[in-house]
Amino acid sequence: MIVCVCRKVSDRDIERAARAGCASFDDLQMELGVATCCGRCAECAQQTLESATHKQTVGARAACAPRELALA
Ligand code: FES
Repeated sequence: MIVCVCRKVSDRDIERAARAGCASFDDLQMELGVATCCGRCAECAQQTLESATHKQTVGARAACAPRELALA
C-alpha cells in the first residue's frame, strides 16, 4: 500500500526503514522523505512506523522467550 503519494513511499518501505533502524518520525522523514511535501500522509506514516516498530519488538521478544512463553 502506498502511504506517501508525493514521495512514492509504501508501507513496506517504512517497515524496511524501521528494520534498518528508523525509530522516530523524524528519522523516517529524513530517510524516506515522507510528509515532506503536502503532509497528508503524516498520520498514516506515523501509524505505519509505530506498527512496524511494535512488530519488531514483539518478534524480538518471541524469538528470545522460552518456547512455552512464545507459544502462549
Ligand atoms: S502524500 Fe506524503 S507528502 Fe504528500
